[in-house]
Amino acid sequence: METRWQAPSNIALVKYWGKHGMQLPANPSLSFTLKECHTVTSLKAIKGDHGFSISYDGRKKPEFAPKIKDYFLRIKNYCPWITQYQFKIDTVNTFPHSSGIASSASSMAALSACIMDFESMLTGTTVSADKTSFLARLGSGSACRSIKGSAVLWGKHIKTVDSTDLYGVDKTELLHPVFQNFQDTILLVDKGEKVVSSSVGHDLMNGHAFAKARFEQAHENLEMLKNALQEGDLDTFIRITESEALTLHAMMMTSHPYFILMKPKTLSIIEQVWAFRKETGIPLCFTLDAGANVHLLYPREHKEIVEELINNKLAQYCQNSQYICDYIGTGASKC
Ligand code: PMV
Repeated sequence: METRWQAPSNIALVKYWGKHGMQLPANPSLSFTLKECHTVTSLKAIKGDHGFSISYDGRKKPEFAPKIKDYFLRIKNYCPWITQYQFKIDTVNTFPHSSGIASSASSMAALSACIMDFESMLTGTTVSADKTSFLARLGSGSACRSIKGSAVLWGKHIKTVDSTDLYGVDKTELLHPVFQNFQDTILLVDKGEKVVSSSVGHDLMNGHAFAKARFEQAHENLEMLKNALQEGDLDTFIRITESEALTLHAMMMTSHPYFILMKPKTLSIIEQVWAFRKETGIPLCFTLDAGANVHLLYPREHKEIVEELINNKLAQYCQNSQYICDYIGTGASKC
């Protein structure tokens, strides 16, 4: 059997930070799915003793093996047929390899889509996006938000009936037209390896002095964000999105041991974004991942003026003046 899928990266607006059990989130999160930043994975399965080989763009990558090995171990109970196959994985990202953009979400989503495609071939059933997302979650938590939909909610949220800790739920229906074609320009401030990995960061939320308040706050922010998405309320969208980004980093700075992933240039960009918004009234805002790069979020109609701002003022803060122009996408697809 042979298949090939592509899956995008996603950017969380309400952040997932803290987990328990088998990749279960400590609080619900909500993300926009991206379009241009994605992973393409080709998977071959040959009947035989279970095992796998992994390459990146045709070149062997043994350093990726431990994560894939864990992934296969975790999904085995849900896809027992995999134990009778030998897999050959070849994967490639559309975004620069060391751009500081985590590829775990898109790569685990793409691999899970391939696995589920095989499962549907073997069983003659149609692919369940929920199960694909479930498997992706076992590879990397945020990967479960990269399967289906432009806005995806993951984690049990009391006020969202269909929400669950087990997989991401497509919430595209929430999006007011103002959010369709929303832009995400990623300013590459620091392309190096993170000093503290996400999994270590998640663990540090166990016993964190502010954890309880933070997890409660995420529920409230999610409710406010859902309403803002539905009503096209950009002011509330900006307030929640920026506050969530800064809270994520505040949690890092108040962990024990504490750490900082932002760089001075990250702060310079944030100051410029605030000044630009005040001056022009244009609804440009930022969010941050677990790193120094800055995601600029804004409606499509302001693309030209924001590009001017980037070229005139913000590109100087980026490594080699590099940035990636992305926008809201729809999820994984066979290619
Ligand atoms: O999926 P992980 O374990 O790499 O964690 C992702 C955490 C953040 O990107 C910081 C937030 C999020 O919700 O995506």
